[in-house]
Formats: sequence, C-alpha cells, structure tokens
Amino acid sequence: MSDQSTISKRGQEASNTMLRIDMEIYGKALENIFHKETNPDGALILNMAENNLSWYLLKEKIETLTRDNEIPDWVSNYTMSTGAPIFREAVAEFLSRFLTKSPINPDHLACSAGATPVIEVSAWILGDEGDVVVFPAPSYPVYTPDIGNKGRLERYDLITHDDLEDIHSEPLLDIEHLEKAKSDIEGQGKQFKMLVLTNPDNPTGGMYTLEKLLKITDWCLENEVHLVVNEIYGLSLIDTNHPAIKGDYKKDIDFVSFAQIMQDRQSDYLHLWYSISKDIGSSGFRVGLAYSFNEQFLKAYANLNAPHMISNYTQWVFQMVLSDHDFMENYIQKNQEALTESYAVVVKSLKAVGITYVPSRGSLFAWIDLGDFLSAPTQEAETELWLDIYHKTNVLITPAHGFGNSKRGQYRLVYTAISKGDLDVAMRKLGEYFRGLNKLKSDTD
Ligand SMILES: Cc1ncc(COP(=O)(O)O)c(C=O)c1O
Repeated sequence: MSDQSTISKRGQEASNTMLRIDMEIYGKALENIFHKETNPDGALILNMAENNLSWYLLKEKIETLTRDNEIPDWVSNYTMSTGAPIFREAVAEFLSRFLTKSPINPDHLACSAGATPVIEVSAWILGDEGDVVVFPAPSYPVYTPDIGNKGRLERYDLITHDDLEDIHSEPLLDIEHLEKAKSDIEGQGKQFKMLVLTNPDNPTGGMYTLEKLLKITDWCLENEVHLVVNEIYGLSLIDTNHPAIKGDYKKDIDFVSFAQIMQDRQSDYLHLWYSISKDIGSSGFRVGLAYSFNEQFLKAYANLNAPHMISNYTQWVFQMVLSDHDFMENYIQKNQEALTESYAVVVKSLKAVGITYVPSRGSLFAWIDLGDFLSAPTQEAETELWLDIYHKTNVLITPAHGFGNSKRGQYRLVYTAISKGDLDVAMRKLGEYFRGLNKLKSDTD
C-alpha cells in the first residue's frame, strides 16, 4: 500500500482485494465474444452465473407492458425502503404460487437491489463483527465479501467430503458436521452465528431433502443459530426424468421451499433469501429479497436498506410481470425445459471424455472434477489448468478459488449464459482438449 494514499485504510484494502479471481479475464472475454460466423475464435463465456436462455420471452413481455401501460406517478418518488407496497404484494403472490407453495406475507418481505445487498444487510443485522457464518463447502465464493466487507463477519467452510463422487446423490451435511463446526468455532473463542444453505446449490446443483432440512432446522433452533436458506435457484430446476440424464439419479428429491418450514415454526431464527437474477434471467434489473418472521430483523432492515433500494421503475415493471401468472407459468416451464436441454448437452460431452461431475438437480452449473489433469494438487496448478483451458479453447470456466472445498482440481461451468448452439461448440472444444490430455496421460503412464 502506498503511503501517498488519500483514502482510508479500508478503502486501500478494498482497492487491493479482487471480487473474484476470474473478473479481469471475464472483462477481456466480453470484448471478444464468440460468434459462429463473425468471430469463431472468440470467447465462449461459461463462468458468469447468468441465464440468458429465456430472455427472449421476458424481453417481449417487458416491451409490451411498458408500451401499453402509462407509468404511474409513484414511480418518480421515494417509497418504502424495503419495497413499494404494491410491488411487495405482487412478489408475495408470485412467490407463494410458484416458489414456496405456502403463503407469503408481504409485510415480512424486505426487498433490495439483488441478492448481494440482501446477504450483506442480513449478515450485518444477524451477526456482530467477528461472528462466524458457516457454509457447507463448496459454496459461492462471493458470500465472503458479502458477509465480510461491511458486517465484518467471518466465513467458515464446512467440509463434508473430499471427492466429488461423494455428493453424487445429495449434499452430505448432517448434524455431526454442524457439531464439529460449532466446537471448532467456539474453540477459537468465536460464535457460530449463522448457517447458510443454498438450495439448489451453487456450485454443485445438489438439493436438500425435506427430512434433512427439518433436521438441520431443529439443530439450529436448539443451538440458537440463525438458519438462512438462499433459494435463488429455486425455480431453475432440472427435469431429472429427461431420457438423456435420467440414469444419473438413483433417488428422487423434490424441491421443497424453506418457507414451508418457516411457516410451521414461526421462529426468529429462520430466514429465506431470494432474487430474480437467475430464475427469471434478470441479473441486470437488480431485484432480491429477504423473508423473515423476525420483526426486529425487519425493522433493522428497513432502517439500513436505503442505499440498496430497487428503483421504482424496476419495481413497477416487475410488479406487472410477476402479477401475470399465466405468463410466469409458461416462462418457468419453458425455462426449465431449456435449462434441462442445455444441461444434457454438457452431460453428454462430459460422459464422452470420462469427466466426473455431480448430477445436478437445479441451478445453472455443472461441478466437474479435472483433478487428474493437474500437474500438482495445488491452487497454483488449478489456476494454471484453468488458464490453459481458456487459452487453448477460448472457453472460460471458473476455478474453485474461494469455494472452500478441500480437494484441488474442481471447476464450475455455467451452461445457461450462451445459446445451446454455442454451448455445443464450447463442449466440443473442451472435449477435444480433454481428449488431448487423456492421451498425453495414457502415453506417459
Ligand atoms: C448463491 C448466490 N447468491 C447470490 C448471488 C448474487 O445474486 P444477485 O445478482 O441477485 O445479487 C448469486 C449470483 O451468482 C448466487 O449464486
């Protein structure tokens, strides 16, 4: 750090802390995007958790609504910091019909500009500086700055397995893991304040059974730990009966929203996070929410959320979109079909070259094991392979940097940011690359 700096120490620290390891390379890739005719050597971007498969449906809907409806006057003014009442009502009806299948009270919703501020504000309210938030590993790396930057809470990656095959069927998290985390954390003189589950999971696509969620809830209530379930991928479900992938699933697991358990328990320790960024392919609109029965949490949220409010224009547009339940039903169904088709493309290619993956039940990801191709079991070798893949194939995936998993060589691949046609090209390029490495390996063995 320079002595000449005019900014605060924390500002200097922030200026030197990358949000994600793949951000810089992603920025460059965006300037050189693949196009099958005009830029066949361009970048195929499979690292950013975006879903563009159904944007054509949403785009047409928004264009029609904004053309046919006059902008109401409230749009140009301030509104409640946690969301305009008319918007929260539309969100509550949408959620209860499509995601939670249980009643959602709009007075218990607090909306912010995306899940990112929802996580940041929630962590700030639920924990004090130095308190610990537990995430079963591997888990979304950006949780770390979200809980840490402002709230100064610490992340604990709870290891439940080393090999990716171990979570083939479902996440392994159980009471013994929670007990171990608690004793580790308390042994360091700290407090296990929150447990965060992502369901379906980023990056594994795993899904928790209702029985497991209930067991974990009971443990959290007994131990006075706040349990938050992030259902940001709750409607991005894979059709596990699709003939191309059916054989991967030995057990049926239905998605059950945590809101049902919250409704039943009515506890101050249980909370839900959601955002339309992924399920409705709208990351650029910035709409997220927390749902809680904890009145004090909601009051604090309202007092803290002013910097994170969703623009009223966006609230107006999405209040209309989300209220059209026929449109949303069709959107969700078409989106899940498209998601499954693209996922099947990935699975077929991975199987053809013998790459191990976690069979996904939802989310936008394939979580794959390239450990056999590492020159050494280290973070450096993992980064080296990731860059080599990108430089030789133009396909940009994400290394497990900051995901908290124990074994090196695991990578995340997003299959929804590009069209199925372009995904075919990306997987063909990756397939050729892996075949080359397989050959090199068998020649040297
Ligand atoms: C688990 C999880 N939470 C939160 C976010 C951030 O979402 P948003 O764009 O709504 O801020 C993401 C985005 O990748 C995510 O995967």
